[in-house]
Amino acid sequence: MPNNQGIGSIARAMALKQKEISVSEFFQKNRHLLGYDNPTRALLTAVKEAVDNSLDACEEAGILPEITVKILQKAENRFRIIVEDNGPGIVKSQIPKIFGKLLYGSKFHRLKMSRGQQGIGISGAVLYGQLTTGNPSIIISRIDPNRSAYRYEIFIDTKANEPIIQREQIVKWDKPHGTQVEIEIEGRYLRGDRSIDEYVQLCALSNPYATIEYFPPNGTQSLKMKRIIKQLPTPPKTIKPHPYGVELGNLIELLSYTKTKRVVDFLRREFSRVSEQKAIEICQKAGFEPKTSPRKLTREDAEKLYNAINQTKIMAPPLNCLSPIGEEEIISSLKQNFEAQFYSARSRKPEVYRGNPFQIEVGIAYGIRDYPQGESAKLIRFANKVPLLYQQGACALTKAVTGVDWKNYLVNQPKNALPEAPLVIIVHIASVWVPFTSEAKEAIAHYPEIIKETKLALQEVGRELAIFLRKKQIAEYERKRRSIFELYSEEVAKSLQKLSHKDEKEIKRMLHDLIKKFTKKGEI
Ligand SMILES: Nc1ncnc2c1ncn2[C@@H]1O[C@H](COP(=O)(O)OP(=O)(O)OP(=O)(O)O)[C@@H](O)[C@H]1O
Ligand SMILES: [Mg+2]
Repeated sequence: MPNNQGIGSIARAMALKQKEISVSEFFQKNRHLLGYDNPTRALLTAVKEAVDNSLDACEEAGILPEITVKILQKAENRFRIIVEDNGPGIVKSQIPKIFGKLLYGSKFHRLKMSRGQQGIGISGAVLYGQLTTGNPSIIISRIDPNRSAYRYEIFIDTKANEPIIQREQIVKWDKPHGTQVEIEIEGRYLRGDRSIDEYVQLCALSNPYATIEYFPPNGTQSLKMKRIIKQLPTPPKTIKPHPYGVELGNLIELLSYTKTKRVVDFLRREFSRVSEQKAIEICQKAGFEPKTSPRKLTREDAEKLYNAINQTKIMAPPLNCLSPIGEEEIISSLKQNFEAQFYSARSRKPEVYRGNPFQIEVGIAYGIRDYPQGESAKLIRFANKVPLLYQQGACALTKAVTGVDWKNYLVNQPKNALPEAPLVIIVHIASVWVPFTSEAKEAIAHYPEIIKETKLALQEVGRELAIFLRKKQIAEYERKRRSIFELYSEEVAKSLQKLSHKDEKEIKRMLHDLIKKFTKKGEI
């Protein structure tokens, strides 16, 4: 064991080894956190990040999305992904940072529903591409038909988390505006569940106003999913944070940065739903003069303010920051994708978790044609209209589905599992900040408010399903009884004909009507 002096030298030696870690280096080592833990998933994640961005950009610019996804196979485990959109394009000076710097984006600091939120999606894909193939990513973008299209080849300097521009040039491009992203990565292409094919199809389902053309690798038949709705949904608005969502540390920070001169103005301007009167009420509860300067407040004062906020009744946050899919749209999309006997959808009214508005929508299609007997229902999860294909077991939306007692709705269900039925269940969470369990954005954290809302929505469609199934059961029972009587009606008709000498056809018709009438009434 070293003596006390020895320990000092160990600490000094350790001090020499301390180093800052750049965010790029961190994610290079922890690529699974971004969704690149195996080659199959990696290919899907890269496509998903590019398509999500294209849809976000088009919607933000009020453009009906037209997106092309191409996957080219270069070698056994190597693919080139090309995603092109008709969005607003990206200004030249921003291209390198967007694609060559992790944690750089336009969505993180605002409160408005969008697919992306972290500023790491597309740069993460560029990083994975360069790590596994050594190649730069290629971006072409144009913001106006009267301006040139620019083409960039970009790497990420992982030590500095800064872009390296390998090549920059003006190119001829047939699009008047839009962006094309080309990334070569190591991956594996598989079809079926959780594949890119499934992701693209589900994207069309949750974005019925988008046209998506998809070219799978190796000359497999391409797929064009045309929009079924010719109008964009009402665009969501950016809102300020709601006071109930702010944490003490955040509040201290906001107080030190604010440009407002009085606490009362700080509360009114920095948060949503705080009127002058409410702000005065909060100040009084906290024991401050409303005109106190926010910068003069100590940490203890901030805590008093925090407690006062949480003891004051404040209106729920505005909800125009959300853009749900809509009940009719969910049903149309379900009909487009699944041939079933019964459809239902429900959009709940928005609710709040940690001050963040969110809205749950669900849809079901029952009696899917050719559904394998005894198979569990297919659960399709969406967050801000993005299909979630991985980590189903870890997701709060799954917990809500398995937590509903489906037997109440005449559907078989093993304990704590998905119901067993020819059933497709869609669950969509729309929120200004979706609480994902990791940067890979595949599973929703278990907030009780989210689980409760999802269950309530499912129970509503479940009740409708039960009415349908009950009617179906009754009809089936009647049909069975009728067929038993009809089995004997031939013989009875013959005997009656012999006895009455009437027309056999006429007797058969009368018997048929009688059976129909009495089986319906339940008298025979
Ligand atoms: N196709 C595109 N057209 C226009 N702007 C884009 C496009 N792709 C990306 N951007 C811009 O680049 C930013 C960074 O994209 P990135 O995917 O890295 O992060 P994000 O979408 O903000 O969040 P997330 O990490 O959750 O995906 C976006 O916020 C957006 O402003
Ligand atoms: Mg993104």
